[in-house]
Amino acid sequence: MYRTHTCGELRLANAGTEVKLAGWVQTVRKFGSITFVDLRDRYGITQLYFNESLNPRLDETPIGREYVIQVSGKVIERTNRNGKIPTGDIEIEVSDFAIMNIASTPPFTIEDNTDGGEDLRMKYRYLDLRRPVLKRNLELRYKVNRSVRNYLDTQGFWDIETPFLIKSTPEGARDFVVPSRMNAGQFYALPQSPQTFKQLLMVSGYDRYYQIVKCFRDEDLRADRQPEFTQIDCEMSFVEQEDILQTFEGLFKAVFKDVKGIEMTESFPRMTWDDSMWHYGNDKPDLRFEMKLQNLKVSGKVYCEVLNGSEFKVFNEAETVLAIAVKGASEYTRKQLDELTEWVKRPQIGMSGVVNVKCNVDGTYKSSVDKFFNEDQLKSIAAFCGAGAGDLILILAGAETRTRKAMSELRLEMGNRLGLRNPDHYTPLWVIDFPLFEHDEEENRWVARHHPFTSPKPEQIELMGNPERYGEIKANAYDIVLNGTEIGGGSIRIFQRDLQEKMFAALGMSKEEAQEKFGFLLGAFEYGAPPHGGIAFGFDRLCALLGGQETIRDFMAFPKNNAGRDVMLDAPSAIDDKQMQELNLRSTL
Ligand code: AMO
Repeated sequence: MYRTHTCGELRLANAGTEVKLAGWVQTVRKFGSITFVDLRDRYGITQLYFNESLNPRLDETPIGREYVIQVSGKVIERTNRNGKIPTGDIEIEVSDFAIMNIASTPPFTIEDNTDGGEDLRMKYRYLDLRRPVLKRNLELRYKVNRSVRNYLDTQGFWDIETPFLIKSTPEGARDFVVPSRMNAGQFYALPQSPQTFKQLLMVSGYDRYYQIVKCFRDEDLRADRQPEFTQIDCEMSFVEQEDILQTFEGLFKAVFKDVKGIEMTESFPRMTWDDSMWHYGNDKPDLRFEMKLQNLKVSGKVYCEVLNGSEFKVFNEAETVLAIAVKGASEYTRKQLDELTEWVKRPQIGMSGVVNVKCNVDGTYKSSVDKFFNEDQLKSIAAFCGAGAGDLILILAGAETRTRKAMSELRLEMGNRLGLRNPDHYTPLWVIDFPLFEHDEEENRWVARHHPFTSPKPEQIELMGNPERYGEIKANAYDIVLNGTEIGGGSIRIFQRDLQEKMFAALGMSKEEAQEKFGFLLGAFEYGAPPHGGIAFGFDRLCALLGGQETIRDFMAFPKNNAGRDVMLDAPSAIDDKQMQELNLRSTL
């Protein structure tokens, strides 16, 4: 037997017991002829005490960091207790030990605050994963997984697997493709999501499906995006939007309760996509703080009268002028304001500057555009923005889309600077009534805002034949947003062949093309497809947020870096000529 207990298990009540432990050496501390070793495993750390009698053996076969050892000994009470760890009241007085494997010196310290940089940690991910912080993250991930499965089981969902080698389709992100050896010159694609399969399962009558499943998307990476990531993917038959929102609000609440011990008793608020864009500048508002966007002028229409009478060209010539009132920031220094100007000028934000109005505590106003606006006018702007004494108003002006996006970013930045984005404070939100289409300016065509299987609002179906009005059509589509991150999204689907064909046509697909790419689905809709709808959650994102972080990498065991590489495996990599030949591939590099 390797061990009688784990390294996280023994307490004072075990004092006097003879035990065997096995694990990794965290630290070795030698004091004259006695030695203390911290032994670590997944469950915790236990202190080992090697007395004088073991000294000669330790000299002969010294043990070092990350060695795997096994010890036998007696549990004894510690004289200097360590209140920071659960096993801190005891130690093991070692009577015998064996080195089961030696270890090279690790390239970085195996501690929460490690000295290893990102690349090094990724290269030695198996060592990185020994750090308690990552272990806690993966434990949390497992708990979320278990909670999700439990809840969905109680609701009658079946976990059904769907294939990974599928057909490449043009919609959405870029596909990862896999050459087929048996079908020369042909390729599979890895699924961006099991979307069409889960719909087919509804056609097959399975009623409630889910899968915690890998999805693959060849897109530019960010902190919350990985090329292969995991979704909690769900679909239900004979449901309307309301059924879905209720069922999955229930899922969210169950996960929060099981994993965080948080009881969410209130219904989640809902906001239309239009309202979200108007008040927050994006479709995933962070509701941990207010600071709504103030729409002084939008697409040429002036809402804040004072702007009409001014000589200030920047506002007069701008399509849109937006403001935020930052509570308690009127005493921002010149330096801080200059910093903000630099911040909005960064290429990612792309604005040429930011106007500020200080609503001083003594009731006076001071602005960077004092030349154009007198005290009364500044007061009117402040009133429009709901700013009071002590607040700072920040104003951006420019083209509608860019300015709205920039203001939404500035709002989040000010939230960060003012410490308003507490990771332990959770504010879920449903965003509903998304537009069905989005105009792709580069390609000058309409694309599906969610995906081409999403149904329009029934009362707007008639607009489907009228391209001029595509922009007005709203979808039965919804996102769930948590603390400014899109955690999940879904829709009620199209389930009739003719409407699905209209949708493909609206997206610029010919009948033949639609048949070639999605014939299987159109065909299925001819054999009794039930009304259905679903949703998919970003499992990695949900875990990261529950762990109080925004980067999903540290909640995945073996993630890719920002260039989509696995630096541990050194993948992707070239394949040899024989493999290339078998696959009928030729490199042009
Ligand atoms: P969607 O594309 O919105 O919907 O994806 C659902 C959720 O998956 C997460 N997500 C990602 N997480 C990490 N890395 C990525 N690259 C990534 N891309 C998306 C997000 C997102 O909200 N089939 C539809 C769902 C449906 O209609 O039922 C779908 O895939 O949290």
